[in-house]
Amino acid sequence: MFCPNPTIVCIGQTVMDYRFTVAQIPSQAEKYKASNFQALPGGMAAGAAIAAARLGARVVLASKVGRDSTADTLLTFLANEGIDTQFIERVEGCQTAVSAVSIDPSGERQVVHAPTEAFDRGQPIDVGQLPLAKALLVDPRWPEASFAALQWAYSHGIPSVLDADIAPREVITRLMPLTDWAVFSAHGLAHLFPGLSDETRLMKAQSLGARHVAVTCGKAGVQWLEDLQLQQIAAAPVDVVDTTGAGDVFHGALAFALAASEIRSARPLLGFANAIAGEKVRAGLGSLGAPYAQQVQPAIQQLNASQIRSGSS
Ligand SMILES: Nc1ncnc2c1ncn2[C@@H]1O[C@H](COP(=O)(O)OP(=O)(O)OP(=O)(O)O)[C@@H](O)[C@H]1O
Ligand SMILES: [Mg+2]
Repeated sequence: MFCPNPTIVCIGQTVMDYRFTVAQIPSQAEKYKASNFQALPGGMAAGAAIAAARLGARVVLASKVGRDSTADTLLTFLANEGIDTQFIERVEGCQTAVSAVSIDPSGERQVVHAPTEAFDRGQPIDVGQLPLAKALLVDPRWPEASFAALQWAYSHGIPSVLDADIAPREVITRLMPLTDWAVFSAHGLAHLFPGLSDETRLMKAQSLGARHVAVTCGKAGVQWLEDLQLQQIAAAPVDVVDTTGAGDVFHGALAFALAASEIRSARPLLGFANAIAGEKVRAGLGSLGAPYAQQVQPAIQQLNASQIRSGSS
């Protein structure tokens, strides 16, 4: 059965993005003038949570922020999205993670990120308190919690997604064997396996133990291996406003597709996530450009139809 409002648990990073629209990405020790400025929520898990919630999921986000005014604003944004924030710990003496994001007229961006120390302090996650979800999404920024949650998901048969963006090798290699769907960013995969072809990188990534491995490639869409053959879905042909958070939205949409449907084959699941991320890129606004379910009915209907075709409705 297709379930339009599944419960999804997201675990990892919550960031405040300070976004500057500039004529060109800064490269010199100079002063640059921004034509627009916005402070919006970002971060892998938080962005995925927003995307999944807008598609109709009931989302619980577990994360860590500081005890500062940045966190107050972020928590208000998340609550306005209907996201359950009870598992977001505000850690005394830490600053919330922030990024300075410069966005150029072509929609491409440069990110300078200041991580939080909150993940090294505060309380460990108690997975026994999490709701029995239909999907789990984790990122590599809170490795202990992601590891515990992946074990929890595995033991309950809950499908899991890992946003495998740039992270220390030991973190990725520890999380992979417990992961159902490891979706790398192109930079994340190149960081792990420098100097190889895309296909070889994917093959090497697959050998790390996740059941499915894919890589998002910005305007080239998404790639994965099927029977050792490279498969690709091209990105949606959209007028690009802002690619910030496109990967986060992609992962949130994939978690939604896994939670809402019983489809487990790559093409319809990744095709759905690719379409939703394309809508975000068209809309701008970082992760807050993620579309609502009513804006992407054709993509949701196609997912539903794939489920019926696969005989699992
Ligand atoms: N220019 C674009 N046009 C259409 N879709 C895009 C474009 N750029 C990105 N996307 C969509 O967003 C997905 C994720 O983008 P990308 O690979 O850039 O993520 P990323 O590197 O993880 O970035 P981040 O997480 O910082 O947003 C792509 O697979 C594609 O579906
Ligand atoms: Mg990413």
